[in-house]
Parts: sequence; structure tokens; C-alpha cells
Amino acid sequence: MIESLEKIKVSVDPKFDKRLDQALPILENLFKKIYCGKEAEIQFFELIKRLTEAAKARPSELKKEDERKSQDWFLSNELCGMSLYVDQFCGTLADMPSKLDYLEELGVNLLHLMPLFESPEGESDGGYAVSDYRKVDSKFGTLKDLKAVQKKMRKKGMHLMLDIVLNHTSHHHEWAKRARNGEKEYQDFFYMYDNRWIPNEFEESMPEIFPESSPGNFTYVKECDKWVMTVFHDYQWDLNFMNPRVLIEMMDNVLFYANLGVDILRIDAPAFIWKENGTSSQNLPQVHTLLQLIKQCVKVVSPGMALLGEAIVPPKQIMKYFGSGEFVAQECDFAYNATHMALTWDMLATSETKVMLAAQHDILKKPVGTSWINYIRCHDDIGLGFEDQSILDSQKDPHAHRSYLKNYFSGAFPGSPSSGALFSSNPKTGDARISGSLASLCGLERAIENKDQREVELSISKILLMQSHSMFLGGLPMLFYGDEIAYTNDYSFQLDPAKSYDNRWMHRPKIDWDKVEKRKDNGSVEQLVFSQTQKLIGIRKELPVISDYSNLEWMSPHNVHVAGFIRENESEKFIGVFNFSDQEAFLTWYAFREKGIFDVELKDHWTGNEFSVGADHEYLIIPPYGFYLFEVK
Ligand code: GLC
Repeated sequence: MIESLEKIKVSVDPKFDKRLDQALPILENLFKKIYCGKEAEIQFFELIKRLTEAAKARPSELKKEDERKSQDWFLSNELCGMSLYVDQFCGTLADMPSKLDYLEELGVNLLHLMPLFESPEGESDGGYAVSDYRKVDSKFGTLKDLKAVQKKMRKKGMHLMLDIVLNHTSHHHEWAKRARNGEKEYQDFFYMYDNRWIPNEFEESMPEIFPESSPGNFTYVKECDKWVMTVFHDYQWDLNFMNPRVLIEMMDNVLFYANLGVDILRIDAPAFIWKENGTSSQNLPQVHTLLQLIKQCVKVVSPGMALLGEAIVPPKQIMKYFGSGEFVAQECDFAYNATHMALTWDMLATSETKVMLAAQHDILKKPVGTSWINYIRCHDDIGLGFEDQSILDSQKDPHAHRSYLKNYFSGAFPGSPSSGALFSSNPKTGDARISGSLASLCGLERAIENKDQREVELSISKILLMQSHSMFLGGLPMLFYGDEIAYTNDYSFQLDPAKSYDNRWMHRPKIDWDKVEKRKDNGSVEQLVFSQTQKLIGIRKELPVISDYSNLEWMSPHNVHVAGFIRENESEKFIGVFNFSDQEAFLTWYAFREKGIFDVELKDHWTGNEFSVGADHEYLIIPPYGFYLFEVK
């Protein structure tokens, strides 16, 4: 193939030409692993043509930016992200530039703007049902507005993250409309069947994602009398990547986003992009080949753009998204540390670190050069997706343990301070995930209702404990908007028929800027949470040892309530210790000594105090839900 390609190749610029030449054999091999035959050959040429066109269209300032960025720019301790819905946060894209100062004040310098592209009102899944990948939804503004936001952000040294919804389109997308109208060419863009035979077979082994609001995996389309695969909602039609045209069109959309100046592209739901009858149709090997191919194309056209694979899958599976074999660290640059996120909630509910520590041997296998998105809350539900084995290793019963966690966070457990809710309960499997804002899950909502000042203080400590634990682990912290100002659950979604079926909206608040102003009122909850979150971000930015060079080691569990880790590079050492109980925790200094840490001073960046490492029979005392961020001097 490559020989014939040589004849039609067009030169763009020396740097691109060189990258393409080097990548061609790899691209061809990856492509051929999935697609074969004459048609595949034609489509491979088409792919190269699209890469060349995208390279030609890439604005020169972005090309300069590609050169300026180091290969691992995204591992830096100086980055701190936030995910937000533009409409809920401030209204429209045109309103965004005026809000950047607020984010800057907090210390956030990377924004994940939740889906902005056209998505039908009422059947939108928060924008994850896209009907046009190139047109900004009018409720947010225009593409021009988005470009203006990007420019302003760039001027301020801020980075942009956007989504590409790769697995499915809205049923109002042009391809879906044409498929519905009977055009075979477009029916082949989806998994469409004449009757229920194959769908029934598929469903025997496919789990349900939204069993309450959208049970099953197929939807009947009466206009063409066919069944279409809809793994998520019935209005989200799964794209069929067995058809190489689908890959090429979606690759083109990926590069369109790259050329808008996206720094990190969040690939939505990649685990699902290849389906096979008789399997769960998740995490299949072809998924990885496709992602590796996408990574290679991005490296050729827009080498400064990193890829985040939003695979919310168990720890053993997640590692594969960073690439394996000859493609180690050549697939997704980032994955969500969803397992650790859930384990942090596990620690909060149980006051114990056992299950978290039992899961670490898998999590620590992340390859050097790749990174986690660390978070404690995002727009989605919290799934208790860690392995049963980690629970068993902690001498607990998995079923009883998970039931406890669900009851604790939904507030059903007697004495629980949380006011969350169960999401997507599946009576067939007993599974359920958890919705609720960080503050409400940490007890602030209930404490305010009960006018219980001590509980208010404790819940603020818990919010900061959760944030700090996540911010100093290896990876890029991604805050969720509203959490920095202690938003409790917003129940207004229940009155909106387009949202009421999905209780994840309870933790997607509409920002009231008068509440945000309260960050200036000394002693208010808003001020305490905002200023201390800001302080945490500031500390992170001062410590290069927090850059994610996979340099994390867990301390031994001398006190079951305390999670402690050490981060080290050639010249610096950092130790974070976090107390997940409501009592003071005593940690033997032996925990430090056994790691070779003695005869040194520890400077706690959180309180500003200095500590000397004591004798084995002496203890470091950590306040209830408190923590220390030690620099070893
Ligand atoms: C991802 C999104 C989630 C959405 C789903 C379907 O998991 O984070 O919000 O519902 O994909 O697109």
C-alpha cells in the first residue's frame, strides 16, 4: 500500500512530512489489523488524505505551540483542571471570558468544557448525544465564540479540554437520519438489524448501562423497521467502527477539534467502540488497536494534543488503555483514576484504608509517561468499580461491603451524614451507583439543615481531605465546578422533564454568582472551602515532585485510618498523610523511619508547621479528617 501512497502523497511542511513518513508503516499495520480487502485499501488512502488536509488546515500558532510543548507537558504539577457546563456555570460561551479571572483566582488553568456541540434539547444526555460534531449548540453560542474563549484562555496560559463522543451519535445526526430513511450506506454506520435475532444474542452477554431509564441495548426504529444498537440511551445510536468509513469520519472530527486548539481531547466511552456477539462488547482488543491508530494520527497532525480515554473500567482493564506491548504509553496519555476515586469514598465511609491499599498493586502499574485524571467527583455517578478481590483481601464480604457504601452515601444507613442518591439501580444484579455533590456526600447539606455547627466544620474538613488526597496523588487534578464553593445538591432537575429521569443532575448545579461572591465573607462556608481549595492548588504548583513521573509509594498501614504516600524525584521528597476518621489518629514515627526517613525536618505546607521525625515509640498526631503535606528537608 505504502508504495502506491508515495505517488499521491502531498507535502505540507517538513515537520509534518517527516512525522508522516515515520508513522506510515505503523499506521498501515494498525489499520490492517482491523480492516482488510480492497475497500480497506481505498479507505487507508482516504485516511492519509484526511491527515494531510488537517495538517494543512492547522493554524500556524498551533503548530508553534506543538513545537513549544514538551513531549510530557501534561505531567506537570503546575496544571490544575476543572470540568464545567458552560450554561450552568455562566450562561453562554460569550460569558465565559469574563469568568476566567475567577478560575484564575482559584488557580485552575485547564478547563474541561462539557459537551458544546449540537445536541437535541430533551434528548441530549448532557450533550453526549451529538447531532453535529462541527456546530456549537446555539444554546452555548457559536464556533466563533468557542474560538474566542480558546484564544483568551491561551493568552492567560490556560489549557482547553473538550470531548469527542466517539461511540455514538444522536439519533438526529445526519447519518442517523439517512439510515432511518432507508439509505443502506448510512445504515452501515450503525449496528442495524432486520429483526431481534442478533440483538437477542448480543443482549445475552451485554450488561445494561442505564437499566432504569433506558433498559436493554437495542431500540426499534419504526421508519425503517429495524433494530439499532443503543447501549446508552435509546436516542444514542452506537457507531459501527467495523465500517472503516466510520473511523475516517470520526478521525476527521478528532482533527477538527485538534485544530480548534484543544490541548487534551477526552474520548468519551472508548471501552464500547467495538462490539462482538457473545462478549460483553466492552474493552475488546480492537478497541485498543483503534485507539492506538487514533493516537498515531494525532501524533502526526497535532503532536501537542494529549488524549484522555474515558474508560471507567476495573483496574486490570484500565491499564490497557495506556497501551501495551510495543504500544506501551502509545495509546491514551490519560485515563480517569476512577478506581482510586471510588476507593477514596470507600475510605471516607469506612474510616479505613484497607480496601484502597489492597487495590494499589494494580493501580501502580501505570506506565511512565502517562497520567491519571485524579478526581473525587465529576458530572457522572460514582461507581463502586473496584474489584471484589480487594474487598476480600481486606477480610470483608463484597456484597455486604458494597451495600454498606450505597446505604451510607444515599443516607439510608442510620447515622450517615451523607445526602446522596442511588443512580441506575439494577434490580437484576443488585448494582447501583451514587449521585450527589461533594459537599452533600460529605455531610454539609444535612449539617446545614440541622444547624449543627460542629458537623458543618467536620464536613468542610472532609471536603478538603478528599480534595487534598486526590490533588497530591500522581496525576492531573480535575475539580468539578461548584465543589470549590461548597455547592450542595441541586434538586431543581426534578422539575425539568428533560432531566428528571437522570439524578446525576443533582450534582450539576446552576451557579449563583451571589453565592460565589460569599467567598469574600470571612468565616462563611464558601470562603472557607474556596480559600482552602485555592491554597491546596497553590501548594501543588510549588512542588515539582508532584509532577506525575509515576513516583508514588504507599506507606505501610500502621494506622488503619491513615493513608500515607511518598513521592520522590532526584532532589525532592514529599509525604502526604491523610486521616480518614473522625478521631485524632496516632501514626508511629516508625512508619517514616522504615522508609529511610529520619534525621530530617518535615515542613508541612498545609499548616506551615515543622516536625522532626520522632522515635519509634512516639507518634505523629493527625486531627480528625486532617492531613499533612510534608516536604522532607
Ligand atoms: C460518558 C459520559 C456520560 C455519558 C456517557 C454516554 O460516560 O461521561 O455522562 O452519559 O458517556 O455518552
